[in-house]
Amino acid sequence: MKKALIVLSLGIFTVACAYAAKEEQYKYSSKEVYQQMCSQCHGANAEGNPEKKGPALNDLSRTELEMELYNLESDKYGVGGSQHDIMEHNLKKIQEKGMKYSIPAMAEFIFENFNPKAKK
Ligand code: HEC
Repeated sequence: MKKALIVLSLGIFTVACAYAAKEEQYKYSSKEVYQQMCSQCHGANAEGNPEKKGPALNDLSRTELEMELYNLESDKYGVGGSQHDIMEHNLKKIQEKGMKYSIPAMAEFIFENFNPKAKK
């Protein structure tokens, strides 16, 4: 019985740690990251900002957003070889500031909040 309790509490401890680690990884919500790191180039409502050459993101589907973000992420490591220079630079800055974000969560945030086609 005692052994079972120890095993059980160890299990809970492990789960709690994993959860804490996950929380730590994403200190900021997608909304916070978007407002602070993305909106200046892509617009407060993802309508785009021609001045910064940031394209609109409110016309992309959730899947398209996700794919694009994965593309940009891999370009950062020199895998893709495309010309996403501005975004690459920006992603490095985001990492430096500890403003990591989850790609699926960010894609969902942009789609749900800004795309007129998202079902409310
Ligand atoms: C310094 C300006 C700048 C910032 C800040 C910025 N972007 Fe971008 N982004 C661009 C530019 C310019 C492009 C288009 C060229 C390219 O693909 O790199 C782009 C492209 C994209 C694309 C692909 C759009 C498409 O139509 O294919 C997505 C998705 C995107 N950005 C998301 C984000 C997110 C999310 C953030 C915040 C974490 C962000 N961007 C921050 C400038 C910026």
